[in-house]
Parts: sequence; C-alpha cells; structure tokens
Amino acid sequence: MSTPLVELRNMSISFGGIKAVDDVSIDLFPGEVVGLLGHNGAGKSTLIKILSGAYRRDRGHIFINGEEAHISNPRDAKNFGIETIYQTLALADNVDAAANLYLGRELRTRWGTLDDAAMEAEARKVMGRLNPNFKRFKEPAKSLSGGQRQSVAIARAVLFNAKILIMDEPTAALGPQETQMVAELIHELKRQGLGIFLIDHDIHAVKALCDRAAVMKNGQLVGVVKVDDVTEDDLLGMIILGKQPDKAA
Ligand SMILES: Nc1ncnc2c1ncn2[C@@H]1O[C@H](COP(=O)(O)OP(=O)(O)O)[C@@H](O)[C@H]1O
Ligand SMILES: [Mg+2]
Repeated sequence: MSTPLVELRNMSISFGGIKAVDDVSIDLFPGEVVGLLGHNGAGKSTLIKILSGAYRRDRGHIFINGEEAHISNPRDAKNFGIETIYQTLALADNVDAAANLYLGRELRTRWGTLDDAAMEAEARKVMGRLNPNFKRFKEPAKSLSGGQRQSVAIARAVLFNAKILIMDEPTAALGPQETQMVAELIHELKRQGLGIFLIDHDIHAVKALCDRAAVMKNGQLVGVVKVDDVTEDDLLGMIILGKQPDKAA
C-alpha cells in the first residue's frame, strides 16, 4: 500500500462548549477522491478548514506524504500544495481567464510590465491539459458559465502546484452538462495524481465522483466506505442514523 498523501489523525476542535470536530481520522491517497457527507453542522467544513489552515485544531496531527505537517495558517497549507476551491469561486469578474490564473502572482517582463503574452500562453497550456474544450481565454470571467469558472479556479490551483484539492460542493449550482464537465475535470486531476476532498450534500454526486465517502455526524466520524461497496440507502443511513451500513436497521 502506498503512503497516504494526507493523513488527518485525531482531529479535534471545539467552539465554546461545542465539539465541532471530535477525534476524526481520515486519509487521502494520490489519485483519490474522498467525499465528505453529513448534515449541516456535522463538522465537514470545520474539518477541512483545519487542513486548509483557516482554523487551528485543538488536538490531532496532520501528515503529508508520511511526514508530519505543521499547518497553522493558510500560507502553511499552500506551501504543502493544499488548495481550496470555494463554492463562491473567488474569480475577478472583470478580467479574463489568464489574468485570473495569475491573480496576485502576475508574470512580469524584465521591464516590470505585465507579461500578458506569457500568462496567456501558460493559461492555454494548463487549460489544454485540464479542459481542452475551454476556449474563452479573452473574455472577462463574469461572462463564463459556472462550469467554466470552476475550470479556471481549478487551473489556477494546478498552475501553482496544488497536490491536494478541497472542493466545496463543486456541482451544486451547475446543470447536467456542466456537472459532466466538472466530473471530467476531476477525472483528469485524479489521473495526474492529485488527491481531492469533496464536500457534498448530494449522495448521487458522491457516488458518481468519489472513490470513498466519509460520513460525519455531530462532529464525529460515522465511518469511511468505498462508494462501490454501499448503496445510496446505506449512505443515507450513515448520515441520518449515524450507523455503519452493516449495523444500520
Ligand atoms: N467559527 C465558528 N465559531 C463557532 N462555531 C462554529 C464555527 N465554525 C463552525 N462552528 C460550529 O461547528 C459545527 C460544525 O459546523 P460546520 O463544520 O460548518 O458543519 P458542516 O460543514 O458539516 O455543515 C456547527 O455546530 C457550527 O455551528
Ligand atoms: Mg459546511
């Protein structure tokens, strides 16, 4: 068995008296998509915010490629190749795809001016690998569809060497065709060996996109299952009853 890309061991964090995440351990392998399921308030976002450095855990250890990783802020997380694709995609609406890919990290010519040609060339290269159908390099981000925006956000992460992607409901606002586009993107990212944590409410989406599903309830981990080994009802039972499939009524 290979070394996990990410190991979250005994993660715990409380807010006031509430144990938002209570002794949760999950791993993620290269080329794997692990779905995080659970009701609102189960602790999914909080767990993932510990990994992305947005929250500091009270207890627990994080290992990246088998070595303990000290992540206490978003910059640390980025240095370990951890990138989050937020549901409300943080794109600059008035500039084009290439400019969005390099937002805040622009390429410059040796005279210090923006090197638009180089940025567009790089944008075409990275997008050519991820989503060859994407052609709208010259248009402002606001004119792009939801799936295309998703492509730009993911390309931005990949361009900066993301190894671990956190996606929060990537298909929630998308129609069937666009959802298919994102599914293909995820497939390509897997092929390139990235690991993905995918938060989703939708059991169908998790069955379709993920290799394994981790179900949380009241801050605790109910269980982790291979999606091919369980039915949607099994997953529902885990979410609602907090029981492993074999023990579910
Ligand atoms: N910054 C915070 N301050 C106080 N409580 C929080 C904070 N973030 C999350 N919580 C609480 O932690 C619990 C888990 O929330 P969350 O991780 O957002 O759940 P999920 O993403 O599964 O819907 C909830 O009870 C929520 O109210
Ligand atoms: Mg959440």
